[in-house]
Amino acid sequence: MGLTITEKLISNSLVKGEMTRGSRIGIRAHQTLGHDLNAVMSYLALQSMGVKKVNTEVSVQYIDHNMIQADYKNADDHRFLKDITSKLGVICARPGSGICHHMHLEYWARPGKTLVGGDSHTVAAGGIGMFAVGVGGFDGALTMAGEPLYITMPRIINIRLTGELQPFVSAKNVILEVLRRISIKGGVGKVLEYTGPGVKTLNVAERSTITNMGAETGATTSVFPSDENTREWLRAFGREEQWIPLQTDKDAEYDEVIEIDLSQLEPLIALPSQPDNVVPVREVAGLKVDQVMLGSCTNTALNDVLSIAHMLKGKRIHPDVSAGLYPSTQTVVRESIARGAYDTIADAGVRIFEPICGGCNGCGFAPATGSISLRTTPRNFEGRSGTKNDQVYLTSPETAAASAVTGVITDPRDLKLPAFHYEMPKRMIHPSNLFLMPSEHPEEIEVRYGPNLRPIPEMPALEDRIEKTVQLKLGDHITTDHICPAGALYLPIRSNIPEIAKYAFLVIDETFSKRAKAAGGGILVAGLNYGQGSSREQAAIVPRYLGIRSVIAKGFARLHMANMVNWGLLPLTFINPEDYDAIRQGDTLTIDTSELIEGKKYLVKNETSQTEFFVTSPLCQADLDSVKAGGTINVVKNKRRKSL
Ligand code: F3S
Repeated sequence: MGLTITEKLISNSLVKGEMTRGSRIGIRAHQTLGHDLNAVMSYLALQSMGVKKVNTEVSVQYIDHNMIQADYKNADDHRFLKDITSKLGVICARPGSGICHHMHLEYWARPGKTLVGGDSHTVAAGGIGMFAVGVGGFDGALTMAGEPLYITMPRIINIRLTGELQPFVSAKNVILEVLRRISIKGGVGKVLEYTGPGVKTLNVAERSTITNMGAETGATTSVFPSDENTREWLRAFGREEQWIPLQTDKDAEYDEVIEIDLSQLEPLIALPSQPDNVVPVREVAGLKVDQVMLGSCTNTALNDVLSIAHMLKGKRIHPDVSAGLYPSTQTVVRESIARGAYDTIADAGVRIFEPICGGCNGCGFAPATGSISLRTTPRNFEGRSGTKNDQVYLTSPETAAASAVTGVITDPRDLKLPAFHYEMPKRMIHPSNLFLMPSEHPEEIEVRYGPNLRPIPEMPALEDRIEKTVQLKLGDHITTDHICPAGALYLPIRSNIPEIAKYAFLVIDETFSKRAKAAGGGILVAGLNYGQGSSREQAAIVPRYLGIRSVIAKGFARLHMANMVNWGLLPLTFINPEDYDAIRQGDTLTIDTSELIEGKKYLVKNETSQTEFFVTSPLCQADLDSVKAGGTINVVKNKRRKSL
């Protein structure tokens, strides 16, 4: 039997286990990437492990998230990152060079290789034919140290594309259609592998828009073939020699097949506040819009910016709309300027920012209270924009630009403009001085730590019996933005756990942090898909720091569960999901955790209501052992201590 693209890629980095669906496998990263928000913790972890030099083919650090230098904190972090990367052998992009995922696609991503990145949208590199996986900061540190990354061998869904996108229906609509069909849970434990004749109609940036937002389905990753379009992309960035062909074998077998005829797609939009809340734009057309944000790693490649300029040529943004553009990289900025697109966009009344994440995670351009914001970003989780009770709609650059002009949600086809045609430039402007190479004398580098950088808190081993109060009873789809808030006020203190812990669950319950601390910790109860969204490990560290011992949920998001293991927070799932209904916030639960065994049923006693129910843990034995030890961080530290 032949192999899928996914199997070919995994076999190229497999170091432990066998490629049998559902089994635990270890893969070694050829490349890693990190960004300023998550990687600070990664480097602190590397230092606590005593690692002197990273052990990968390429490791790249980007500085794109925490860019508002309102005081010393972000500037201190940038300086720390430049020092530590130079010392450890990591290439560091200068602050503001571009958004990590798109910049990686331009400069470093290679078909056939495996990339592990400390961000959930690392999967964007699947667009070039990489096996790209997002992880939390600690797993990022381990992979930089050359340790295998353990994942479950995924099931593989073949998304077979036929036809060709019609004018004003761009790549964002493909992934919105996938989300509409399979939902935010539909990719869990799976890889979305794109094949079919429609693939050749999409360039690498368009493919990357699709793989990037595949993260919202919960998929381990998404991947496209490497073909002539891939070669064209690499050639444009002066790296053609890195091209290899990569296709699925004719007799490869998939676990599931989804057919999408690109020519049948229409402009789509995700309603607040989940990316799978997708409907055709025409169903909500006419709704008044207050803000339009054109940006993010998902959707401001050069083709997007030129398409926006095409939509806005000779027009003015509606007077009631505030519109802003965050381009994805310096290459996109300079190519757009060279083509006159920036003049057109600025003339229309759009604010143009530097190439950073910016408004995507609430670091700038937060919407006004009660307003409607239309965004080209991948996520619209409650509060992520920086404004509580926000109303964020996700859509394509074309729909966003058309709506900015009319002031109401608008199907871009209704403007009756001539079709836009994009041709990949043969050669892109791509200045190499955006990267700082590691020092040849790392022993001479003095790493400078700002006062906001605190050591990683010690995590004690899990006790043999948990007797704790339910500090929060939560619903379905609690995101990492709910647990550990985004926004310009909170991101600069992400690496200061005692400080960020004061704002845990801020979006849901402002009293949580104080209550949990006063009670000496507790238990959380949640519905489906707990921990959905970004890879930020602080969403596991912060509850753990506040004394939370376990989260009992109907289900967990993969990436967050891995972070829980790393930081010693026990995930438990209901055997009978209806038992969730009988628990109330404030109930006291007891669980015997003296022996954590894979597949075991644990009896939970509700001491308040005098009832009982059973739970189990979705973790394998190795992960349970890590949780018992207080987290993988303790296991690794102990191992390293013994080897000294
Ligand atoms: Fe940045 Fe938003 Fe992408 S925070 S990495 S632009 S999802």
